[in-house]
Amino acid sequence: MTVDGALRALDAQFDGARADLEALVRIPSISASPAHAAQVRESADATAEMLGRAGLDNVRLAAVEGSHPYVLGEWLHAGDGAPTVLLYAHHDVQPPGVVERWSSDPFEPAEREGRLYGRGSADDKAGAVAHAAAVAAWLAAAGELPCNVRVLVEGEEEIGSPTLHEFLTAHLDELHADVLVLADAGNWSVGVPGLTYSLRGLAGADIELRALHGPVHSGMAGGAVPDPVLGLARVLASLVDDAGDVAIDALWDDVRSLSERERAPITGFDDDPGAFAAAMGVLPGVGLVGDPAVPLHARLWNRPAVTVIGIDGHPIAGSSNQIVARAAARVSLRLAPGQEPGRVVEQLRAHVARRVPWGLELHFTPHDGAPAWETDPRGPAFDAAIRALRAGFGADPVLMGVGGSIPFVGPFADAFGGIPALLLGPADPRSRIHGEDESLHLGDWRKLMRAEIHLLAELANVAAPGGPP
Ligand code: BES
Ligand code: MN
Repeated sequence: MTVDGALRALDAQFDGARADLEALVRIPSISASPAHAAQVRESADATAEMLGRAGLDNVRLAAVEGSHPYVLGEWLHAGDGAPTVLLYAHHDVQPPGVVERWSSDPFEPAEREGRLYGRGSADDKAGAVAHAAAVAAWLAAAGELPCNVRVLVEGEEEIGSPTLHEFLTAHLDELHADVLVLADAGNWSVGVPGLTYSLRGLAGADIELRALHGPVHSGMAGGAVPDPVLGLARVLASLVDDAGDVAIDALWDDVRSLSERERAPITGFDDDPGAFAAAMGVLPGVGLVGDPAVPLHARLWNRPAVTVIGIDGHPIAGSSNQIVARAAARVSLRLAPGQEPGRVVEQLRAHVARRVPWGLELHFTPHDGAPAWETDPRGPAFDAAIRALRAGFGADPVLMGVGGSIPFVGPFADAFGGIPALLLGPADPRSRIHGEDESLHLGDWRKLMRAEIHLLAELANVAAPGGPP
């Protein structure tokens, strides 16, 4: 059983994997939209069909009350002495955003300059297909896998995995694993793989301010009747200080100070904020925000952040001289290790309530949240992942944090006694995941599959069942 044979099989199957990805991208599996429940189901079916074709056994959809479908499959013929690896990805996607801002249809995959554009191309349908392709290549070349494998492709990661706890409880036996491999993170840069050891948490709320029973003419009422949009703007402005850093009352109480290791600058990154800004597409002359005394990487990975991800007043198109009755904002917070989502939401509520001007009516609706996750990226499983990524990409991986969140990781690893969680993935800093023109670097995607082929062989030797993580 050789890695080389599996790598050759991958080359033969890569076009098929790409066709699988394109077919998945065509399905608008938007978990946040109740109107798209059938499409989430359709993407689960397509994912299951793909996993079955890869050669997995017992491929099935699973659900708990109120959940979108999870897809499960397994190959458990490596023997009791071999470790079991759980491969995770998600098949649901974010809404497309403003469709007119896409260069091509979000649900019609299009290749431009070596990248495949489309919603879910990078986050995270490419992750699901990469798992299937690695398994298929091994089975085609060797007729077997180096270790036992389970696959779990979730259908509601992008809404915060609301039924994760119930699902883990109901399906624990079918999920048992010695090591977790997630293809839902990403690379340091194009060509340079990443191995992610920390994620921020998430909390948030909808903040609505009501002033009137209905809109009134701004000439008749302006100057006396309060404008809820301006009231909301004052509240939102109070969420950050002059440096753009989070300024919510009491929020910093639970944020621990950075360790020496977290504070240590990353050469080639912290010393070059301009390169980061350029990679993010920040306009010339626009500065970065946050506490300038905190290194850039730590502002992104280890500190809280606040974003207004949606705002309702009146659209400019069709506006007229009126004071609108209500205004609302959807506020999303990234959390540092140590912050508890439920507490943060109450801190936000109290902060906002103290600042609502003119007696406007406050309607505050909290979102589900998730705490931050971090692990010590040392030990045999991480060493195996480092070797596998190096072999797959021909470049040393960067051990990194990310500022995004994957609510699944912590509870899942804990459910099996703190098994190691290896976070890889297909995204890169130019992927615009969640944004318009999301894209996948096709060359790096193939390298990710190669790395996964190596990883299965590497883990067979190191992640012994019941052994130390
Ligand atoms: N794949 C992302 C997480 C991620 C983002 C990893 C950036 C690496 C870099 C994941 O699908 C995601 O977007 N999660 C949501 C979670 C939320 C909806 C609970 C997020 O971070 O916004
Ligand atoms: Mn994702």
